Amino acid sequence: MIIVIDGPAGSGKSSTAKEIANRLKIQYLDSGAIYRAITYLWIAADKPEKNTFLDLLPEVDLETAYKRQTFFVELNGADITKNIRNQNVTESVSDIASLPEIRKFVNGYMRNLVLDDVYIADGRDLGTAVFPDAALKIYMDASLDERAKRRFNELQQTDSTAGVSLDEVKQNLNERDRKDQSRAADPLKKADDAIVINTTGKTFDEQVSEIIDIIQNKLKLKY
Ligand code: DC
Repeated sequence: MIIVIDGPAGSGKSSTAKEIANRLKIQYLDSGAIYRAITYLWIAADKPEKNTFLDLLPEVDLETAYKRQTFFVELNGADITKNIRNQNVTESVSDIASLPEIRKFVNGYMRNLVLDDVYIADGRDLGTAVFPDAALKIYMDASLDERAKRRFNELQQTDSTAGVSLDEVKQNLNERDRKDQSRAADPLKKADDAIVINTTGKTFDEQVSEIIDIIQNKLKLKY
């Protein structure tokens, strides 16, 4: 069974989904991390042309696991959990994620992963394209200013050497929103049957509790 949270970058989806997974003792899947891992691979391979890069995909050995509040990603045996948050990956990920062949690969990986457990996952197109039959769909949103502040703080904690300003983070978010919403293949879009949660001005605890109430009203998970 899967619960999905979609929304723009920095809307608080992943921290919220992780906290809900911890409280309800279910699994967590970070779909953006998988697009980031593929983007990391593209950069590590010296940014090859599209067709050369797609030829590498069948050889990719991807392993993910949620442990100790962290979504771990291993690519071909190397732990790249931290590397995928670096600015060079962040700048290219929307372009790599716009390729339909890449989306097919990532979707196949995710659908297979969630087969035999209860998951909460966050992304852009999970409720519309990847898991249209999800048990529950949430769409989280927040103003661009608030999302930029959150991402900036997060970056300070995970990559204090990144050297990017708040304004650059805001521009990157704005640009990624534009690309994620306008791409032809499975754009960021609210599913018709998703419940919208706007987190502007809400505390983390308020947004987590609000979504847990919705989950428990509808699904009554035992934990
Ligand atoms: O959530 P994030 O910022 O880590 O996601 C990184 C990028 O991956 C995002 O800019 C767009 C892409 N993505 C996507 O296209 N579809 C998803 N389901 C999740 C992420």
